Amino acid sequence: MKRFYVETYGCQMNKLDSELAEQALAEAGYAPTDDVRAADVIVLNTCSVREHAEHRVVSRLGRLKPGGALRKEGAVLALIGCMGQREGERLFQVAPHLDIVTGTKEFVRLPQLVDEVTRTRQRLAAVDLSEEFDYVRDPRHRAERHRAFVTIMRGCDLHCTYCIVPTTRGGEESRPLAQVVDEVRRLVDDGVVEVTLLGQTVNSWGKQLPGAPDLADLLAALDALPGLLRTRFITSHPNFFRNGFWERVRGLRTFCPFVHVPAQSGSDRVLKRMARLYTTAAYRDMVAEARAAVPDVALASDWIVGFPGETEADHEESKAFLEEVGFAQSFVFKYSPRPGTPSERRLDDDVPEADKDRRCNELLAVQDRLAAAQCQADVGRTLEVLVDGPSKTNEARLSGRTRRNKIVVFEGPAHLTGRLVPVEVEWGSTQTLYGRLADRPADDAAPAPRRPLPVVSPA
Ligand code: SAH
Ligand code: SF4
Ligand code: F3S
Repeated sequence: MKRFYVETYGCQMNKLDSELAEQALAEAGYAPTDDVRAADVIVLNTCSVREHAEHRVVSRLGRLKPGGALRKEGAVLALIGCMGQREGERLFQVAPHLDIVTGTKEFVRLPQLVDEVTRTRQRLAAVDLSEEFDYVRDPRHRAERHRAFVTIMRGCDLHCTYCIVPTTRGGEESRPLAQVVDEVRRLVDDGVVEVTLLGQTVNSWGKQLPGAPDLADLLAALDALPGLLRTRFITSHPNFFRNGFWERVRGLRTFCPFVHVPAQSGSDRVLKRMARLYTTAAYRDMVAEARAAVPDVALASDWIVGFPGETEADHEESKAFLEEVGFAQSFVFKYSPRPGTPSERRLDDDVPEADKDRRCNELLAVQDRLAAAQCQADVGRTLEVLVDGPSKTNEARLSGRTRRNKIVVFEGPAHLTGRLVPVEVEWGSTQTLYGRLADRPADDAAPAPRRPLPVVSPA
């Protein structure tokens, strides 16, 4: 039997796309392998968001030359995903030993492309973005048994000046509500208890669909699925929590009060140059509205340091804003000019690398201090934890997450994986809580299901 090997770079959407590519290959009769040397088809699913992500792929390609130790004789080498979409055939010049390049949509045709390449021994590029992306997901192809990602929209309609994603993934397309509910139902039937809904601006989901449903409608529909315990969603944009979103989701049994809604910068001058379409004042209003309805909501942010023209004063504003909002988690990135984006064409990448490094560390230090204090505040509480499995650092312990997405490590039997348990928190480090199984209900347990559960039928 022929075997395939898939390696994934980039975001969660790419991880899920890799599962779809694996599904396509498995349906065509290939078997998966974890050993690249055993593979007849090697697939790299790539990311273009920063130069560093692309460099990693290029150096990996260098190690996959024919005749090398990692590539079995006759193995077909395919590059899929954002870098393939962006570069297309040009990649054959960088890496003449690549056989197939596809982008963020046509990768579902991998089995046919592999057949064709094997037959003709001609390289192939397939990077059409115009077709609608249509597939029926087989719930069996997924990385974890108890949780899964579900893409609810692809592409992005915004034009943040630094960002390559609209180029690599095209315009926004929402999947119909019934299709998403049906996919989640099939995942739940197969043992999934937590889903994370994916989209670039996930809270603008639905606007092009008939009747213009919104994310709160979708979360409510999923809340009615018995067996589903938790629903998360990433990534949100601060402008799109409309029509009383927070009021509408706060009573949902499966809603988790942890929301990733990147601020990117705390300087209005920089936000304007990024074309983020909000000011810090508007972001503050969004936070106030969220907290009025969901007082314990935890917020996470992405930040870009060293955006063109970012001064020390701008950077200080970001630090102050991080502190003021009291974010629970931050991902900090050094600005990387992406070919063809507005900021790359019009603005000089003028912040020295050393300053980018320092600003990155400074923001992370503020975030660490906040996160440590938030962990301390949880000591003594009993929190509802969804068990993810044995802890990565200590196999004898279990690791799980609170509804607000804090990692909790505690002792317990492995068969609790995928279950909700109350854990009394005994101490906290910067990022992680430690505790023991409690014999009383959690202080932060989700609202009880409304009975009777409404029936949702996929039309
Ligand atoms: N759609 C999401 C995330 C897109 S990419 C959103 O809008 O929030 C993930 C993160 O990478 C972004 O939030 C941003 O912080 C960072 N990023 C995107 N382009 C970048 C660039 N050119 N240089 C550095 N960081 C970048
Ligand atoms: Fe990129 Fe902005 Fe779209 Fe996010 S919202 S994917 S940062 S263009
Ligand atoms: Fe994701 Fe990277 Fe593409 S972040 S959308 S894989 S550019």
